[in-house]
Amino acid sequence: MSTTGSTIVDRGLEGVIVGSTDLSNVEGQIGRLTYRGYSIDDLAQNACFEEVCHLFLYGRLPTKSELQQLQTELATHRMLPEPLVMAMERVPATAWPMDVVRTVASGLALFSPVNPTGTHVSDEHTAIELIAKMTTIVAAFDRIRRGLEPIEPRHDLSHARNFLYMRTGEEPSDSEAEALDTYLVLLADHSFNASTFSARVTASTKADMYAAVTAALATLAGEAHGGAPSAVMKMILEVGQPKRSETYVREILARGARIMGMGHREYKVRDPRAKHLEKMAKQLGETSNSRWYKIARALEDASQKVLQEQKPGRKIFANVEFYTAPTLAALGIPDDEFTCMFACGRIAGWTAHILEQLADNRLIRPQATYTGPEVHPFVPVELRTNGQQGKRD
Ligand code: COA
Repeated sequence: MSTTGSTIVDRGLEGVIVGSTDLSNVEGQIGRLTYRGYSIDDLAQNACFEEVCHLFLYGRLPTKSELQQLQTELATHRMLPEPLVMAMERVPATAWPMDVVRTVASGLALFSPVNPTGTHVSDEHTAIELIAKMTTIVAAFDRIRRGLEPIEPRHDLSHARNFLYMRTGEEPSDSEAEALDTYLVLLADHSFNASTFSARVTASTKADMYAAVTAALATLAGEAHGGAPSAVMKMILEVGQPKRSETYVREILARGARIMGMGHREYKVRDPRAKHLEKMAKQLGETSNSRWYKIARALEDASQKVLQEQKPGRKIFANVEFYTAPTLAALGIPDDEFTCMFACGRIAGWTAHILEQLADNRLIRPQATYTGPEVHPFVPVELRTNGQQGKRD
């Protein structure tokens, strides 16, 4: 918070309540996250991603037949319109995956019937379509940029299993499919985080769900939000071996940089999702590259030691992104696609928030304190000199 003249300005809206939601509750002081009242701990261990989608979109966990119905609808929507696949084939292989995902997701609107106001129907079925297709976009571009043909989605596989199948053409092991499913559950929603807020702002203008999801994707990309896990992986690779962790952390802080995957605007304790991701990273590491998990673990310990020493009282702990990096890397996902994977989980929350916003909408339009020049006369172009523009004579 800062003060401009006599006005108090909340830069970053920290602690400011701008709306209400039934979808998820972040209790940052005690490190608890719940989705519609269910603890993330219970959901991560017992529910699949599709059950969580139902919980968000229809207000309660599904019965067995409702779950089957939702899984069938998701499977029906997995295929992408052919022109969008062709467009991805024309994109340079060096394109940043998140730019491709944002652009292609936006392009889905072009294949949806448009109403006279230039918008598209935005309901639970639109949400299911977007949830289904997000993973197909990510898997298709992953193959295209490796010079491979995209693999058509299968109807008989779960959401997580089908995604891993579309990347390689082989069915993943149960432990891989379960790990990805748990990851998607953990990432599915987080109250009014920046990308969700962005989606709600866009929806509040009565733009449609495709537009609001595109805004959310754009907002997710930054390293203060969903862009962090790629940077965590970079750190892990640079550290190279656990015993170098402390020196590495000291070097980062000495040059005034931040330790990626550490710190959170809401959590003042360790992020409650971190323990589940750590467990998965460890388990997956036993069958693939355990070095990454071991380095991550050593980095977390070193970060805690050095941060407590250099920034006492700041409460900077591992956030969701920290163990996302070794988890996704162990699943064979390249680090520049980590933010895309975040989007594959968060799309469940984004779409539910958009529906919640539309159900009781009010245009979100805050104010700003003006700090520019006072009102002054306009100077015609031929009379302007350097240094005079925008200033009083
Ligand atoms: N490494 C080192 N110091 C950190 C830090 C980190 N990861 N995160 C916060 N800090 C320090 C800041 O340097 C600042 O210290 P100072 O008071 O000495 O200047 C203090 O903690 C408060 O930082 P601030 O930026 O005001 O906190 P915030 O609530 O805005 O930050 C994040 C939240 C997530 C943006 C921040 O923790 C961060 O940049 N983390 C790294 C990126 C990341 O993991 N992003 C994913 C978030 S889920």
